[in-house]
Amino acid sequence: MIRKPEKTISIQEIEAASQIIRSGGLVAFPTETVYGLGANALDAKAVAQIFVVKERPAFDPLIVHICQLNDLFNLCKEVDDRALILANVFWPGPLTIILPKSDLIPSLVTSGLPDVAVRMPNHEVALKLIEAAGCPIAAPSANKFGKLSPTNAVHVRKQLPEVNCILDGGNCSVGLESTVVKLNDDGFVILRHGAITESMLLQYVPKSSGKNINPLPEASPGLMKSHYSPEKRVYIIGEHTIPEDTSDAALVNFHLSHYQGFKIVENLSKDGDLMEAAENLFQILHQLEDQDISFLVVEPVPEIGIGIAIMDRLRKAAFRFHNDIEMIKE
Ligand code: TXA
Ligand code: MG
Repeated sequence: MIRKPEKTISIQEIEAASQIIRSGGLVAFPTETVYGLGANALDAKAVAQIFVVKERPAFDPLIVHICQLNDLFNLCKEVDDRALILANVFWPGPLTIILPKSDLIPSLVTSGLPDVAVRMPNHEVALKLIEAAGCPIAAPSANKFGKLSPTNAVHVRKQLPEVNCILDGGNCSVGLESTVVKLNDDGFVILRHGAITESMLLQYVPKSSGKNINPLPEASPGLMKSHYSPEKRVYIIGEHTIPEDTSDAALVNFHLSHYQGFKIVENLSKDGDLMEAAENLFQILHQLEDQDISFLVVEPVPEIGIGIAIMDRLRKAAFRFHNDIEMIKE
């Protein structure tokens, strides 16, 4: 079942946005995971604008969004049975599948890689927009490169004020970017964790033994250790040494916890529900970014199910503050 957006968008608005896509412009639109910054995936000039607006390095490839399974066969040279099974089971939904690209896809979309990442989002507005545009839509998350992904239209406006057309569908229901999966000869490899977990995939396709996998971030920039980073320093309890004086800091609890002495306390989920925590994570980080606090302390969540993706994003958010590295684009 296609999820209804939190806020409805009129057919006229979707028509107008699809006209922008058709004429080579950019549209920010909601999906169930995060908001995307979309352009006609078959128009290299339009896609180039995405990289400019996002300040994204050209080596980081984009996900191509489709609204019907048939499009997969046009965009990919080969669609093996395993890919078809995963697409049938998990689409529309938060799973991105990497497959050999067809000549239709400009090489800018895949950053010169022979493979293209494809996803069918589970969001009425996204699907209607792609359908009305009449072309697949290339869309990264609608944020500046390396920064927090947007889970509502306000987040998009904050980071990308130059984007004129933002379809406001309210808050995203999943709240974390899609799982990115590649199919190797002997099984799947997860390049980015998300709401579709390893155990869910294992029910349908075996996992790769891990041989012949490029362990470098270049295999998929989502593997970079620093990403999804808020402006404020992030500490994870149990993983980093927390400064003694927290009177000027914010605490992000998973659940109800016993820590005291913070200026602000936010709960990811009062009931200890990991799905709710995922939905709230970027919302809370965006909110705290704008507060007058000196740093953030985060309580780890259990690394099961979508908790694996939550901890992945938190570690990436914290990484640059605890290691002597520079972000590629800061
Ligand atoms: O949930 C999502 O996936 C959102 C919504 C808008 O669909 N999109 C998103 O896009 O998160 P982006 O560009 O922020 O992240 C795409 C990830 C990156 O880690 C990128 O490196 C990886 O997918 N990726 C894209 N194409 C790839 C390819 N051909 N090979 C390997 N990794 C690829
Ligand atoms: Mg992104």
